[in-house]
Amino acid sequence: MQFYERIGRELDKLKTVDQYRTVPDISSRSGKEIVVNGQKLLNLSSNDYLGLGDDTAMLAGYTRSFREGNHAMTSSSSRLLTGNHPLYARLEEALATLYGRDAALVFNSGYHANIGMLPALSGRHDLVLSDRLNHASILDGMKIAEAPWQRYRHRDYDHLEELLAGAADRYRQLFIVTESIFSMDGDLADLARLVELKERYGALLIVDEAHGVGVFGERGLGLCEQADVVQKIDIITGTFGKALASTGAYAVMSSLVREYLLNTMRSVIFTTALPPVLLGWSLLTLERQSAMQHEREALLQLAARLRHELLERGFEVPGESHIVPVITGSNALAVKLASRLREAGFLCMPVRPPTVPEKSARIRISLRSTLEWKDIASLPAIIGETGEQ
Ligand SMILES: Cc1ncc(COP(=O)(O)O)c(C=O)c1O
Repeated sequence: MQFYERIGRELDKLKTVDQYRTVPDISSRSGKEIVVNGQKLLNLSSNDYLGLGDDTAMLAGYTRSFREGNHAMTSSSSRLLTGNHPLYARLEEALATLYGRDAALVFNSGYHANIGMLPALSGRHDLVLSDRLNHASILDGMKIAEAPWQRYRHRDYDHLEELLAGAADRYRQLFIVTESIFSMDGDLADLARLVELKERYGALLIVDEAHGVGVFGERGLGLCEQADVVQKIDIITGTFGKALASTGAYAVMSSLVREYLLNTMRSVIFTTALPPVLLGWSLLTLERQSAMQHEREALLQLAARLRHELLERGFEVPGESHIVPVITGSNALAVKLASRLREAGFLCMPVRPPTVPEKSARIRISLRSTLEWKDIASLPAIIGETGEQ
């Protein structure tokens, strides 16, 4: 009984500090709109940054071709047993070609990629250095890995250099891991500086482009493409579940690293492979997004305008991307703001600790290229009024 009492008490405590979570009651989601608790809202909390998930013509064409091909909806086994499929090879070839890299490996999700990669590649004689605000899945990967790890202050590359200099010669291998576009702050890693540091200290650099893919770079390959460092980063990961409007994730790397991961990465070996239906869809959306330069530009312009208006009203709005956080500090204000926006017809989720550090609660406005300014023009005033109250 003690167990049930304890977890009940812990849940009560979460309620008192506005950190209690529930699954929202979503009855439909289409285009820019979502119906939550029976209320139709403009969806400003989706990661479908290019609106590809709402391309009904593409979906209808794909569904037809798939039905005709009579493909299975499951792979029924790990990829290393009987779950492999020719679409895996086609998808990995397409990724390697797009990035101009030796090899690519597809994972079941970004979470699988991040919890499996560091444990596979590093050992107890190595050291992992991670940006303090890296995604929970990267942190979980570090906790599983045998290698010790340290976190450098968010985007503070002088701090990272101090840690690298202090660690040099004391470890077998140093690893640096960062997101490119930080998921909760919408700010950008300095990839050129990271490449310079990695080269100077002989470290291995892993960049998670979950929120960069589709949005940055001429062909949507992410911030690494925009910063012209695709060839210099050891491992670039991306997810299919965000701008690519599918499910799964991938990394591009050298053939040797791919071979090593296939032999050692537990979140690849001990899980059922993705179903062919998703691999084929990912292939299609990956190709489609690479030609969506117009949409990328429109999205970033929209975000810049929103950010500018919020900054003018005195809000703390970090970042330079399509993810626009409005920092409230207090959990209660984030919840209040989200609820006021909901009354006005906008869905912007409040983000609270432990997803973000203590006292840095926020609402996270996540834009998509299918939105126009008129859709969101009233946001800054509503946020301003609620902040003043
Ligand atoms: C930076 C980052 N990496 C990895 C993930 C996990 O990806 P997935 O949703 O495919 O598991 C996410 C978000 O969910 C993320 O924001």
